[in-house]
Amino acid sequence: MVATPSLQRWVCALLVALMAMGPASAVVDDPAKDATPTHSVFTLFRSANMANADKLASGIGFHSFRIPAVVTTSTGRILAFAEGRRHDNRDFGDINLVFKRTKTTTDNGAAIGDWEGLQEVVGKGNGTWGNPTPVVDGNTIYLFLSWNAAEYSQGGGDELPNGYITKPIDKTWEGRRHLYLTQSTDDGKTWTDPVDLTRELTPANKAWDAVGPGNGIVLTTGEVVVPADGRNIIGRGSPGKRTWTYQPLSGAGSEGTIAETFDGKLYRNDRAGKADNYRKVARGNLSSFSSFSLDTGLPDPACQGSTLVYNRDDTNGPARILFMNSAHADRRVFMRVRISYDDDAAKWNYGRELRDFPVSGAGDEGGYSSMTKTRDFKIGALVETDWQNGATGDKNSRAIVWRRFNLSWILNGPRG
Ligand SMILES: *[C@@H]1O[C@H](CO)[C@@H](O)[C@H](O)[C@H]1NC(C)=O
Ligand SMILES: *[C@@H]1O[C@H](CO)[C@@H](O)[C@H](O)[C@H]1NC(C)=O
Ligand SMILES: *[C@@H]1O[C@H](CO)[C@@H](O)[C@H](O)[C@H]1NC(C)=O
Repeated sequence: MVATPSLQRWVCALLVALMAMGPASAVVDDPAKDATPTHSVFTLFRSANMANADKLASGIGFHSFRIPAVVTTSTGRILAFAEGRRHDNRDFGDINLVFKRTKTTTDNGAAIGDWEGLQEVVGKGNGTWGNPTPVVDGNTIYLFLSWNAAEYSQGGGDELPNGYITKPIDKTWEGRRHLYLTQSTDDGKTWTDPVDLTRELTPANKAWDAVGPGNGIVLTTGEVVVPADGRNIIGRGSPGKRTWTYQPLSGAGSEGTIAETFDGKLYRNDRAGKADNYRKVARGNLSSFSSFSLDTGLPDPACQGSTLVYNRDDTNGPARILFMNSAHADRRVFMRVRISYDDDAAKWNYGRELRDFPVSGAGDEGGYSSMTKTRDFKIGALVETDWQNGATGDKNSRAIVWRRFNLSWILNGPRG
C-alpha cells in the first residue's frame, strides 16, 4: 500500500505518542485480579458529636480522633491506635493515646461488633501524647510515642481551653518533644508505663520531633526499623529484647514510612514540604542511605502516608508493596491506594481511589492513614475523616474509619 501524506502523518504521530510513553514497565499479570473484589467500611473511632461516640470505660470521651496506626499481632489480633484529642481537633493540648483491639484473633475486625471498646495506652497529665508507631516483634508489641508538655505547641501562641497561651517547642528538656516507648506482651491487653528514651534516641539539641506516625517493621535479616523525624530507630537483639540505636538520615521528611523492598533495601517514603507537591523517597540499608528525592508519581499535599509490604514472592502471585495517601498536591482528599510490583518500588503500577467505595455518615474522608494485612488476606486500613456536622475550624470533629478490602478490589478499579 502506498503511504498517503495523511497516513504518513498518522504513523508519525503514533510513533511520537509511543515514544512519549517511555520504556514500557514490566507487565504484571496479577492473578489476584480474578478473585471477587470485596470492600467494607465503618467508623471505628467515633468523635464526641457522633451517635455512639467512643468513650473510655471511665466515661471520658474525645472531641476528635486523629493520627491512626494499625497492626496485626502474631496471633492475628488487630490493634488500632489513635490520638484521642480531648477538647478540640488541634495538634496540642490534652491528647491521650487510645486504642481498640479486635475481640478475637480470628474475626479480623470485619464488623463493628468484632471490636472491644475504647481503651487508653497512656493519657496521664494534661500534655500531648501522640504519634502512635507500633511494631510487632514476635509476641511483643512495641509502641513508640511522641510527647510534649501542655505548656508548649509547635509554633506557640495557641490558647488552650483554660486560657493558657502556649510557648513554642524549644530545645530545653521541658520544652522539647520527647520520645517514649511502651510495650505489651499480652496481645495489647495491657501496656507498660512509657519510658522516656529522648536522651538515647533523639539527637541532642533537637526541639521538634516526631516518630512515625504509622508503623515500624522487622527486616528479613531480623532487625527492627522504626521511622522517625530525620532518622531510623533501629532495634537489634532478639524479639522483645531489643537494644535501640538510631541512624541519622539527611534530608528526610517530617513524617516517614519505612519498608524493606524486594531488592533487600530499606525504602523511606516521607511527607515532603508544602511546596514539594510529591512524596520524598530514599533508599539504603542499616549503614548508609541515598539522599531524598521527590517521587513525581506520588502527588501529596504535605501529609502523612502509609506503606505496607503485602507479600514477598510466593506461589500465589508476584511480590506486592502498597502505598496509601491523599493523592492531591494541595488538599487532603482523594485517598488512593496503589500497588507496586517493582523490586525497588520505583513505579506504582495500579491505583484506586477509596471514594470509589464511599463511606457515609462520617464526613469528608482524607488525611492520615495506616494499613495492615489481615489474616484473611484483606488490607485493613484506618483513614481519617472530617466529621464537620455544622462546626468549622478547630471545632469540626475528626473521626477515623476502618476499611477492609482485597487486592482484587484495587486491581478491578479504574487503572491509574
Ligand atoms: C477477595 O475477597 C474475596 C471474598 O472474601 C475472597 O474470596 C478472595 O479470595 C479475595 N481475593 C484476594 C485476592 O484477596
Ligand atoms: C497542667 O497540669 C499541671 C498539673 O496539674 C498544672 O500545674 C499546669 O498548670 C497545667 N498546664 C496547663 C497549660 O494547663
Ligand atoms: C549499604 O549500602 C552501601 C551503599 O550502597 C554499600 O556500600 C554497603 O555495602 C551496604 N552495606 C550492606 C551491609 O549491605
